[in-house]
Amino acid sequence: MAARTTRRRLEASLSGSFDNDQPGFSNQRRYRADGPGWDEDRRRRALVVHPDIKLSGQGSGRDPARRLEEAVGLAQAISLDVVAAESVTLSKIVPATLLGGGVVERIAGTVEAKEIDLVIVDHALTPVQQRNLERALETKVIDRTGLILEIFGARARTHEGRLQVELAALTFQRSRLVRSWTHLERQRGALGFIGGPGESQLEIDRRLIDERIAKLKRELEQVRRTRGLHRKAREKVPYPVVALVGYTNAGKSTLFNRLTGSTVFAKDLLFATLDPTMRQIRLPSGRDVILSDTVGFITDLPTDLVAAFRATLEEVTGADLIVHVRDIAADESAFEKQDVEAVLKSLDIDPDVPVVEALNKVDLLDPAGRQAALAEADRLERAAVLSAMTGEGVDQLLEEVDRALSRHRKVKHYDVSLADGRALSWLYEHAQIVGRQDEGTTAHLDVSIDPEDAARFERRYQGAAE
Ligand code: GTP
Repeated sequence: MAARTTRRRLEASLSGSFDNDQPGFSNQRRYRADGPGWDEDRRRRALVVHPDIKLSGQGSGRDPARRLEEAVGLAQAISLDVVAAESVTLSKIVPATLLGGGVVERIAGTVEAKEIDLVIVDHALTPVQQRNLERALETKVIDRTGLILEIFGARARTHEGRLQVELAALTFQRSRLVRSWTHLERQRGALGFIGGPGESQLEIDRRLIDERIAKLKRELEQVRRTRGLHRKAREKVPYPVVALVGYTNAGKSTLFNRLTGSTVFAKDLLFATLDPTMRQIRLPSGRDVILSDTVGFITDLPTDLVAAFRATLEEVTGADLIVHVRDIAADESAFEKQDVEAVLKSLDIDPDVPVVEALNKVDLLDPAGRQAALAEADRLERAAVLSAMTGEGVDQLLEEVDRALSRHRKVKHYDVSLADGRALSWLYEHAQIVGRQDEGTTAHLDVSIDPEDAARFERRYQGAAE
């Protein structure tokens, strides 16, 4: 009986892991981030607890209030209705439940009073701790890894991203399966029920998961090969790729929507079909770029999830320019910047790729804060102070991007026959015309152009002289 109940619970938690159309993994109705929420009638009511662990006086160094805020933000990102949230200071860890007895009791009271459906513990929980807490609180409990998996599941937009998330979730579940089973065995051993019929069931569970993992790995391999093809297809498109990166909540999507909303034009369909998070936009100089949005960074990403997260960042490695969106109104802005830079460093990005900092949410700052932000932007090599929300400063950001992309450009002079419409339009398409004088049948042009484009132009159109 115990084995069957455990299995049912495991199945329930497996099937509730993330979005996927595989049988047994479907939860589309319950977890649609952009849909009505977990339930069609009522959003799930959640309680978020952030354990601030201070063992022998050590803390994480980060403000627990901010950490709690981030956890609440993450929960809201999967459409949970967060009705209670608190940070609890732990001076010791209780092995059975992580949280101390008094805290558990208090939370149990809140769960009952506020009809909470789900408790999120913003920390890693062992399967045993999770189960003990579920029993004590009489509600479903998930930990930080579970929560982040939900987010990645809801947000992974590329096929590869989805596969990676599913793989991470299964690996996570498999470790729980084994460990919680071992625990159960031990418990039953103590009670005298050694062995038992459940064992073979566990083997089946494990085998099913292993088979699915093997299949996912094969699919991932396949997707990587096709991705190579997509990249090749994209390489043929002579537009630089600009990737937006940054912490969750920094304002990437707001900025993406503002930039694309105001400048989208017909050709954008080409990329929309390739990936909905990529759009073609036109910079003030007339240069076209492809803007690519990415999944946000999360504080202290559990190591098991790093691969899944990196897959969601795949676009960044091939980018010609990175825009690092920062929430400068956040107290932890400097910490977050360090984290993002450390991950970018580990991503094997060409060091020649420029990074432009978008110091976002300036509208939330008072005059002194604004001054400080402007001073910081001045200190940085490439930066703009802006508000993606109001649009203030967005033009300056685009100019910075333009400038950074044009850093290798040189001004060249070409004389082109006015009858040569193709050469003229080629130049207008690929370079910035900084001066033009028409004389008789000739156009005298000063153009700012990439060296490769200049060589191409000269080769293709009768080697126009400098
Ligand atoms: P993830 O998708 O979680 O990675 O977040 P994101 O970086 O895409 O942030 P998003 O654009 O979703 O913005 C997060 C919150 O910040 C939203 O509530 C936005 O309305 C708000 N926000 C974004 N930009 C600004 C801004 O310039 N000013 C203000 N006041 N709020 C902003």
